Amino acid sequence: MSFLDPASLLDRRLLLFTGKGGVGKSTVVAGLALESARRGRRPLIVELGHRHTMKSIFGVSAIGYEPSPVGRGVHAMQLEFDGALTDYMNEHVKVPRLARRVLANVALRRFFEAAPAVGEIATLNKLSALERERRGSAPRWDPILVDLDATGHALMLLNLARVMDGLVGDGPLRRMLDGFSVLLNDPRKTMLNLVTLPRDLPAQETVELYTKLCSEHRIARGALFINQIPSLHIDDEALTFLDPLQDRAEALDDVELSRDVEITRRMLMVRARAQGQVSRLETAIEMPAVKLEQQVSSHLSLDDVAALGEEAVAQLEVSRD
Ligand SMILES: Nc1ncnc2c1ncn2[C@@H]1O[C@H](COP(=O)(O)OP(=O)(O)OP(=O)(O)O)[C@@H](O)[C@H]1O
Ligand SMILES: [Mg+2]
Repeated sequence: MSFLDPASLLDRRLLLFTGKGGVGKSTVVAGLALESARRGRRPLIVELGHRHTMKSIFGVSAIGYEPSPVGRGVHAMQLEFDGALTDYMNEHVKVPRLARRVLANVALRRFFEAAPAVGEIATLNKLSALERERRGSAPRWDPILVDLDATGHALMLLNLARVMDGLVGDGPLRRMLDGFSVLLNDPRKTMLNLVTLPRDLPAQETVELYTKLCSEHRIARGALFINQIPSLHIDDEALTFLDPLQDRAEALDDVELSRDVEITRRMLMVRARAQGQVSRLETAIEMPAVKLEQQVSSHLSLDDVAALGEEAVAQLEVSRD
């Protein structure tokens, strides 16, 4: 297979995660960050956009633009547009006061917000700054886990250099964009991970995204997280009892037993369908797959999230051997 050593996923500097809305990106990111910290690393979660999911996962009152500890050795930050743009302006428009005045100008800010690439430039600018941060001789963040918005946003970040081709000359902006491309396309540093569900539409979208990544992008592909796989632990022997049980329920006119048998059959059907989607994903996508079970409640505690992260890394280790 053509993927890189999967167990070393956490050794990468920058781990990007994408997938359709609601599939469990934030949960997977938080779980992996918790597991990295448990293993003695110093992970930073970067949440993009305005969702603020990490705040509720970690049960903290706020997560701002500055990385702050959120518990259990994990740091997190919210990469929002204003902060990233201010950083960008401070760095590249050499007079900070001017940068502030530019930002304070409502009309100009509207322009920046509307101009499609500015948000992406500011975002990548911040991510590469975080990647370069050092504590002594070691990287300050190890690793940086980026909880991207849905699929479209990930592609916009990856397409940035191409979109800007022809729009920028040979100046500093060109050099900066080239710098982002070098970081994103360095397989020792950066990996894009996919999160999906074993259901028809998310699986379809993930296969399409994967095909696009293979044909149009050089970014290294990390792991495929198949989340919320229905868990129903019934072995084959127990299944052979279903028909006799149903006969018995009918003979005794036992409505409750009959209903239990029916529910079990339905759950088996759901599990079979999900397994079909898992096989489809594993066949179409040449990335190490991490299969995570659906938990009983969708309100996961921090311990549940940590356990999912531990399980994910353990699976990656097995797939390396
Ligand atoms: N394995 C799982 N078992 C049960 N519930 C889960 C599992 N993984 C995630 N969830 C729940 O599913 C919901 C969506 O998860 P999450 O917020 O991580 O998805 P997301 O992809 O980040 O969503 P969004 O696109 O809105 O950012 C949450 O309530 C989460 O607790
Ligand atoms: Mg999320």
